[in-house]
Amino acid sequence: MEKLIKLAKENIKNSYSPYSKFPVSAVLELKNGIIYKGVNIENAAYGLANCAERSALFSAYSDGIRKSDIKRILIYTDHDYFVSPCGSCRQVMRELMEDDAEVILVNNRDETKVIRNIELLPLGFSKKDL
Ligand code: THU
Repeated sequence: MEKLIKLAKENIKNSYSPYSKFPVSAVLELKNGIIYKGVNIENAAYGLANCAERSALFSAYSDGIRKSDIKRILIYTDHDYFVSPCGSCRQVMRELMEDDAEVILVNNRDETKVIRNIELLPLGFSKKDL
């Protein structure tokens, strides 16, 4: 866990967030120990911003990683409170990570809050509904 927090803190400098000035860093850990990182990437057309969680997940999926490979995702912001994933990220995490995968929120005091993926989007829409 300490290693993941350190990586997330180092990675936050790569956030491209000139509009919100709210950098976010995510670190995805696979069951085999491989790590993928992501940051939020914004755009002058504000609605096109991509959150850190989705950047990390899309990067992993682009390499052929799938939900059964993923152990957990850690989300870090430089605040003394916990920032939790937006609705779009919850929907994407619900699809791309297993229900019991861990979502770990980390604040700038190195405090952590661990949630199971399924807890973030109860009664969510999924491919079972199609
Ligand atoms: N953001 C994330 O990257 N992850 C979250 O969980 C919440 C919000 C980003 C989106 C936008 O670039 C900035 O934070 C402010 O909303």
